Amino acid sequence: MRVLIVGCGYVGKALGRQLVQGGNEVLGFRRNASEDPELSAAGIHPITGDLTRAADLDSLTMPFDWVVDTVSSSRGGVEAYRDVYLGGARNLVRWAESRGIRGLVYTSSTSVYGQTDGGWVHEESPAEPAGETGRLLLETEQVFLQAAREGRVPATVLRVGGIYGPGRGHLFRQFLAGEARREPNGGRWINMIHREDVADAIVAVLGRGLTGRLYNVVDDQPVRQGDFLGHLSKETGLPLPPEAAPGEPAPVRKRGTTDKRVSNRRLREECGWVPRHPDFRAGYAPEIRRFLSRELPAADAG
Ligand SMILES: NC(=O)c1ccc[n+]([C@@H]2O[C@H](COP(=O)([O-])OP(=O)(O)OC[C@H]3O[C@@H](n4cnc5c(N)ncnc54)[C@H](OP(=O)(O)O)[C@@H]3O)[C@@H](O)[C@H]2O)c1
Repeated sequence: MRVLIVGCGYVGKALGRQLVQGGNEVLGFRRNASEDPELSAAGIHPITGDLTRAADLDSLTMPFDWVVDTVSSSRGGVEAYRDVYLGGARNLVRWAESRGIRGLVYTSSTSVYGQTDGGWVHEESPAEPAGETGRLLLETEQVFLQAAREGRVPATVLRVGGIYGPGRGHLFRQFLAGEARREPNGGRWINMIHREDVADAIVAVLGRGLTGRLYNVVDDQPVRQGDFLGHLSKETGLPLPPEAAPGEPAPVRKRGTTDKRVSNRRLREECGWVPRHPDFRAGYAPEIRRFLSRELPAADAG
């Protein structure tokens, strides 16, 4: 099969590597594709292009079996979200129509769930994000879902939790740098997923998922922020971070105001997906080993 990965970054490269190893032809499309040697090293053909410019997509004239949109706004604000996610989705759908594509997956985010009561949420739960960026992601999802409903593009949307893996993991890095703070009362629930499990989920959904459907991609065990830091402290021997002082500004984070446990049941039951890293303890073990063997010094971790 020939696969196009649009926004071929952290997750896209893991996915591409897996697909190349499976004998597929993979093209990785992004603005600075030629500057990332990891693409070619993984056997992914780099294609330089900007998703916000429809003409860059139009230059891709060969047929594709699967298209995966893992583009991110690269930490940009509301305008970048509007341009890259929403504008990019409109361009991609327009380009993908009438090309005979067999499946298209877009990786959205669990940040579209605005729940704050710590309860379980699944794909039918209300998605009412409090912030503008969350609302733009929701609007982006609708571009794909509507195209699927109208039979224009066989699109499916994944709502992905906080991605971690080699070289990634915001709170882990804050912890190693001594900058983490424990939230009061044990803290919020956090929902994580290892990047290899996101890559597996994309393949599982393209193979067995239903067009026009939503799937959450998180591991099996949400964890409270305090328990996460407690585990890291126990495993690394570094001190437990102090509790945030009352009124101390919360660390900046996308899902900062929500508190929810996200269920992966639909993805497991409908697509046969099983996470290789069922919880963060399994997924972070190699990173903790790297830290203990001094391959990942605390001073470099921030
Ligand atoms: N990180 C998380 O915790 C998280 C959580 C939930 C959902 N997600 C979603 O999961 C997906 C994958 O995340 P990731 O961590 O792999 O993201 P990433 O590492 O930032 O990769 C995204 C890639 O998109 C490319 N890009 C940005 N603007 C572009 C444009 N205008 N045209 C073409 N390419 C563009 C960037 O490369 P260039 O700069 O070379 O263009 C970047 O390598 C994203 O859709 C993200 O929104 C992430």
